[in-house]
Amino acid sequence: MKCRKCGEKASINMRQHRMALCKDHFLEWIPEQTERFIKKYGMFARDEKILVAVSGGKDSLALWDILTRLGYEADGLYLGLGIDGGIEYSAESQRLTEEFARARNLKLHVIDIEKEYGHSIPVFSEISFRGKDKPCSVCGLTKRHEMNRIARDLGYDVLATGHNLDDEAAVLFGNTLQWSADYLLRQGPVLESKEGLARKVKPLCRFYEREMTAYSIMRGIEYIYEECPFAEGATQIFYKETLNQLESARPGVKLTFYLRFLEAKQSGDLFIQKDEKPPQLHPCERCGQPTSAPNLCSFCRMLEKADAS
Ligand code: AMP
Ligand code: FES
Ligand code: ZN
Ligand code: ZN
Repeated sequence: MKCRKCGEKASINMRQHRMALCKDHFLEWIPEQTERFIKKYGMFARDEKILVAVSGGKDSLALWDILTRLGYEADGLYLGLGIDGGIEYSAESQRLTEEFARARNLKLHVIDIEKEYGHSIPVFSEISFRGKDKPCSVCGLTKRHEMNRIARDLGYDVLATGHNLDDEAAVLFGNTLQWSADYLLRQGPVLESKEGLARKVKPLCRFYEREMTAYSIMRGIEYIYEECPFAEGATQIFYKETLNQLESARPGVKLTFYLRFLEAKQSGDLFIQKDEKPPQLHPCERCGQPTSAPNLCSFCRMLEKADAS
């Protein structure tokens, strides 16, 4: 297999694009494409302040690397969730993220949930569910709340996450199987800012997971290999595997599934329509973030419950 650009030996073959590239050209191609997606979907402008949510995994570290290579002003945010799971998951991912920032002289904000709120994620989860459920939902709620809070308090215009195509296609697959209109209408590369929340963007949403792995390795990025020990619901993993099976029989099917969805949504062809009025939002009495609940947002309700227990 030869590189399409220079004819040297290829390092990666991307069947969905019918294109193989050598290491140097692949490492050029990824940021070029990212820049194209940023412009195409109107993610952010050159003069906007970007906050990258970095978990210590390959996708978000690669995203931070790409945005800096492209010359954007992007600072990092790491959330310490206090997850151990026998592999010191949080401690190790924090170490790798801090090391990445230090080596490149980048600004990183670190928020330790336990120091901030008195309990780690597993403890919050234990209090909320009495051990009957995995911490993932409490974890997701906390991450969203804290990302919004830091972006607002520190004056960032945009919040960028490292979701890749495999993540997005799996979510889309799940939402389609359920015909979850609300979720389908909200899914996309950009979630516009509203009621004081920063705009949310996913610049890597068109790259396959294996492309991000290859990019991180070729760039010498040290990232945490392990998944969170509580591993995001088995369903999500099952959808990813199913899509990968389809992909190996029909290269490109994952990308087409996602892109055609975005096109249909943009042109208004998606036959799902929301007719009722969107819920009335007002500021949470404790933290000020928009919520449809009467007094407190779900995060603050969880905090109150934990503090009272
Ligand atoms: P996940 O929900 O673990 O699949 O992660 C999706 C994205 O959320 C990652 O690519 C990161 O951008 C962000 N993220 C996940 N965990 C953290 C964390 N502990 N701190 C900051 N950002 C995170
Ligand atoms: Fe949050 Fe696993 S429970 S990352
Ligand atoms: Zn080449
Ligand atoms: Zn609140």
